[in-house]
Amino acid sequence: MQSKIIFLLLVSISCAIALQTVNGRIKITVITTAYCSDTVTFIQNHLRETYSLYSDYLEVEFLPWGRTQRNVDGSLTCQFGVADCWSNRVHRCALDMLKGNQTRQLEFMSCEFVIPITSSYRCAQEMGLNLIDLDYCVSSSAGDHLDTAAETASVASVQIINFIPAIIFNNDQPSRDVSMAAFANLRNMVCQALAADPITGVNTCT
Ligand SMILES: *[C@@H]1O[C@H](CO)[C@@H](O)[C@H](O)[C@H]1NC(C)=O
Repeated sequence: MQSKIIFLLLVSISCAIALQTVNGRIKITVITTAYCSDTVTFIQNHLRETYSLYSDYLEVEFLPWGRTQRNVDGSLTCQFGVADCWSNRVHRCALDMLKGNQTRQLEFMSCEFVIPITSSYRCAQEMGLNLIDLDYCVSSSAGDHLDTAAETASVASVQIINFIPAIIFNNDQPSRDVSMAAFANLRNMVCQALAADPITGVNTCT
């Protein structure tokens, strides 16, 4: 009786975090905020390695919105204050300029998310982005539509997951359990899912 209950518990836990490929691929959406050290940890210790191993099978999407609140006057309040808001805006603009190359998007975010976290255009410059175009997006209303897009795509998920970085796979319903499992062990989750799909050709997870 007791072992049956334990068995059922284990089944329900593993089902809760089961990840599956879609046509042999996995989409990973990461909701970030600039001054969040957990996001630094996730990008540096988990996402980069997973991407370097399995980039052929991955679509990575960043949503630099975090726990940003929109005030009644339309202004934004960010979890870590004004600098967090500014850097998130830089991230949205730079990622938009890098769209079409997710490897370069990840390189940019890997450059940004290091300790100590700072506010500058250094990483954009290192990526070779046109800083006049970037600054125009950041400082004028030209970048406002990127705010709206990130906000629309993030708010409901952050409410459910209630942790930054918030991680969602394959545009699934957001789940705190899945997100926390990915935060702890992204590489293994991705590898297990790829290995379970014969069309990927991935068959060992070390
Ligand atoms: C993306 O950028 C990398 C350099 O970071 C380059 O090697 C690669 O060819 C680019 N891919 C595309 C699709 O442009």
